[in-house]
Amino acid sequence: MDFNLSEEHIMIREAARNFAQTELLPGVIERDEKQQFPDTLVKKMGELGFLGVMVDPKYGGSGMDAISYVIIMEELSKIDASASVIVSVNNSLVCYGMEAFGSEAQKEKYLTKLATGEYIGAFCLSEPEAGSDATSQKTTAIDKGDYYLLNGTKNWITNGGRADVYLVIAQTDRDKGSHGINAFIIEKGMEGFHIGPKENKLGIRGSDTHTLQFNDVKVPKENRIGDDGSGFRFAMKTLAGGRIGIAAQALGIASGAYELALKYSKERKAFGTEICNHQAIAFKLADMHTEIEAARHLVMKAAWDKDQGNDYNVSSATAKLFASTVAMRHTTEAVQIHGGNGFVKEYHVERLMRDAKITQIYEGTSEIQKIVISRTLTRD
Ligand code: CAA
Repeated sequence: MDFNLSEEHIMIREAARNFAQTELLPGVIERDEKQQFPDTLVKKMGELGFLGVMVDPKYGGSGMDAISYVIIMEELSKIDASASVIVSVNNSLVCYGMEAFGSEAQKEKYLTKLATGEYIGAFCLSEPEAGSDATSQKTTAIDKGDYYLLNGTKNWITNGGRADVYLVIAQTDRDKGSHGINAFIIEKGMEGFHIGPKENKLGIRGSDTHTLQFNDVKVPKENRIGDDGSGFRFAMKTLAGGRIGIAAQALGIASGAYELALKYSKERKAFGTEICNHQAIAFKLADMHTEIEAARHLVMKAAWDKDQGNDYNVSSATAKLFASTVAMRHTTEAVQIHGGNGFVKEYHVERLMRDAKITQIYEGTSEIQKIVISRTLTRD
């Protein structure tokens, strides 16, 4: 077993770290305060290949592995989790969903643009009454012969106002339960598709989150992804990969906060010495280091499973459950180590603490991850 990163992975980490430090860091506080979407930075991330990391180069992607993807996600998330969620949704949910399940024509038309950042994608599963309980979709897509007629509301959609392409999950035959669900490609501007107001959020405020409304949207038949009735499986498989990206985001938020806390504790003096020399602080740092290292191993294992072609349903849920818990706990500790300075924006840790919370909620709450893990453990 080799725990060393390859030369290539080290280079990717340097590129992502350099981009985060030089491009994301300078405006991150302002974007958070003003809820500004990082348009220009998203374009730059597209140019660097960060928006189609694992996509086959024949569709314009970078053709890298999942290990590279989590390395990039960790580095971006140390500095700006709003930027990294845009990367995560575009890569794990939209590009992966389309590459794994889409038709050749869909890949030619959409994936080639999504992988380069010319288009941004959104993934629309959650509804006002179907967030965790994903089979209870109220959004319907009724087969009208030449087209599907789409009606319903989707909530908390990342990239909601900025996306060009939306993957929308809808019920086509209620009697068939999870086998009566399909996924569709919806383009911005289709008649009857309305983007609701932007959410005013606790964290990841630089990302763009909206409610979406579909009123009698005529969806061409060729925009259905995969076989009839395959939409729930599509969503679950896609989310399993998405959880690897969010686990890496949580890891990045935690390690970003830890690095800031470590640096601060070596500079700040109290009672005649740097505060890292007080055991109360030193023990916090040891706990942070230990749990972040454990989270990194789980994230890497889930990414490795994906690269090997192993089932990653449980390893991705395990990584997300643990890394998001660590992110919440240790960003709070990082604020504590900073004392009063931790409570003001210029020290960055309060933002990381606010951003950490969403990693315990989106792409399945921590409770959902426990359902996914325990079901497999208890299966006969
Ligand atoms: N891969 C493939 N198939 C799967 C699967 C997976 N990971 N999980 C379930 N399925 C299949 C099952 O095998 C089953 O198929 P059969 O009927 O043929 O046996 C079918 O799907 C139904 O499965 P379940 O009975 O297990 O479904 P369930 O309704 O009990 O729910 C759940 C399972 C795990 C709780 C699921 O509903 C779930 O993951 N919910 C959370 C959804 C979620 O993550 N929402 C977040 C929204 S997206 C987001 O946050 C994006 C963003 O903007 C950042």
